[in-house]
Amino acid sequence: MSEHETSSETLGEPTRRDFLYLATGMAGVVGAGAVAWPFIDQMRPDASTLALASIEVDVSSLQPGMSLTAKWRGKPVFIRNRTDKEVEEAKAVALADLKDPVARNANLPADAAATDLDRSAGKDKENWIVMIGSCTHLGCVPLGQAGDFGGWFCPCHGSHYDTAGRIRKGPAPENLAVPTFAFTSDTVIKIG
Ligand code: FES
Repeated sequence: MSEHETSSETLGEPTRRDFLYLATGMAGVVGAGAVAWPFIDQMRPDASTLALASIEVDVSSLQPGMSLTAKWRGKPVFIRNRTDKEVEEAKAVALADLKDPVARNANLPADAAATDLDRSAGKDKENWIVMIGSCTHLGCVPLGQAGDFGGWFCPCHGSHYDTAGRIRKGPAPENLAVPTFAFTSDTVIKIG
């Protein structure tokens, strides 16, 4: 195109051929834009598609003290059948000692307190905990049953979570997030 522009300038006025060339070029640009948008839109899942993206996990093999990591929407999800000792340790912590006193549990109101019960699968299932395995500092995957509080430990910058996945020490600002989930039977958890 610069060749044509140069020749137009040289001649003073665009020739008919230059004009056609420029007009076609413009149409091409507009056309590409019009086609690109719907294509990008198709690539981006809408809210209803995301809402359907749930998984069911069989947890029948998890005895107390055992965990598994599921993959949900591209993220690791920690599911742990906690021991009585782990539950008792978490229950013994005063809310005032927590760095983040909010439950961060998608199944509860946003202001629910970070009690052990509200971090867990709830009454009669308090031994179960389900959390997104992504450190709330910068997103590393924490290690299970490690760190100063016997819960999870993120080695990236040293964040320690307790047995209820609550941040207790280190740079992470929030408790590990609890996703939307429910037991659909005694042994199956639906996440999402
Ligand atoms: S990402 Fe976990 S401590 Fe920084």
